[in-house]
Amino acid sequence: MDPDACTAMAVETMRRNDRGAYTVPTAGLYPYQWNWDSAFAAMGFARFDPARAWTELETLMVGQWADGMVPHILFHEADDGYFPGPEVWGCAGPVPSSGITQPPVAMTALRAVWGAAPDLGRAGPLWDAMARWAAWFARHRTEGGAVFVTHPWESGRDNAPDWDGAMAAIDPAGVGDYVRRDTGHVDASMRPTKADYDRYVWLVRRARDEGWDAEGMRGRHPFRVADPGTTFILMRGLRDLIALGPALGRDAAALEGIADDVAAGAAALWNPEIGCFDARDLRTGAFAGAVTSAAFLCWYGGAARGGMDAHLARVLDAAPYGVPSLDPADARFDARRYWRGPVWPFMNQMIGTGLTEAGLPAGERLRGVTRDLLAASGMAEYYDPRDGAPAGGRSFTWPAAVWLSWAHAEGAIP
Ligand code: DGY
Repeated sequence: MDPDACTAMAVETMRRNDRGAYTVPTAGLYPYQWNWDSAFAAMGFARFDPARAWTELETLMVGQWADGMVPHILFHEADDGYFPGPEVWGCAGPVPSSGITQPPVAMTALRAVWGAAPDLGRAGPLWDAMARWAAWFARHRTEGGAVFVTHPWESGRDNAPDWDGAMAAIDPAGVGDYVRRDTGHVDASMRPTKADYDRYVWLVRRARDEGWDAEGMRGRHPFRVADPGTTFILMRGLRDLIALGPALGRDAAALEGIADDVAAGAAALWNPEIGCFDARDLRTGAFAGAVTSAAFLCWYGGAARGGMDAHLARVLDAAPYGVPSLDPADARFDARRYWRGPVWPFMNQMIGTGLTEAGLPAGERLRGVTRDLLAASGMAEYYDPRDGAPAGGRSFTWPAAVWLSWAHAEGAIP
């Protein structure tokens, strides 16, 4: 595809997934509003329909719980093509929703949308809501400053090796029968395994039975893993909110305190054995021992450390289309299985943005290969890192948004 055709496809994909006030990741497989997908959608809309970009973020924040949590899925309309739906989650927020959050890319999207189309009346309330979300993270999802997740879905990187140790320790006894819907949309070889799903469903039921008690989960929940991905993304989001504060007449002092704590937590996710940032099971203290794409968000978060550049060079030499979700040299690498190998263009975008800001040429290299990948393979959920073949769901919102807001951001919109 030439770049103009790819731009047209990107706009068309976003319009097709637009449900009026929010965007679905893709029809069928993901038929609701997902938190971080929406943040990328907002950045994509900012290029050709800024009013719609504001609406995307506003609709997301309408789902915010009274305690500040912003759910990872908002079930705005019934759709039986997805499992687990709202009746499994059993949550009582303002909109039917899941009971966990997702990495807060929306904080960064707020700054990006403001940059494209400043609107005080719309940005102010969003900033306030996101500041409450940041305070919720600090209160309920940090230990020693590092952000931990209470479900693999909360990280957005569902079946990454980061969670293998904590998942193996769970006995999903009594999970019972349930019907997966994802494998009706996408080949099972590209999705998490049944052993993973049993634990995903078991963890949802367990937290639901405990009444989604965020404070209780901190001490008792059987899955608590410090996640470098969410930690770096929150660091970045906090920086963006703090930077926006003065323009919106907001006092960011409380956020500065949180940012200092999270930065200290990020440093504690350094695993000296592999010389890399790494996930850590809070129940055992064990590191996962995996070089995943999340570690390379350290520049984006503002926590880069010597040694990461060598890992990055090695991984990029092995994978021509950008950062694979798992180091191809790792025995657990599985080129098409979701977060155990594939390249995800939005990860390339965040990693590449951080590298470019740090003055490293690898950032532009990542942008170039992402451009080539999307122009060659279209708008897929993720891609085989060896040959760039599209994988997972198709007609996906986030690669379209990545094309428009980063990979080919200089391109004219027809
Ligand atoms: C899924 O259902 O696969 C999602 O990743 C959960 O957010």
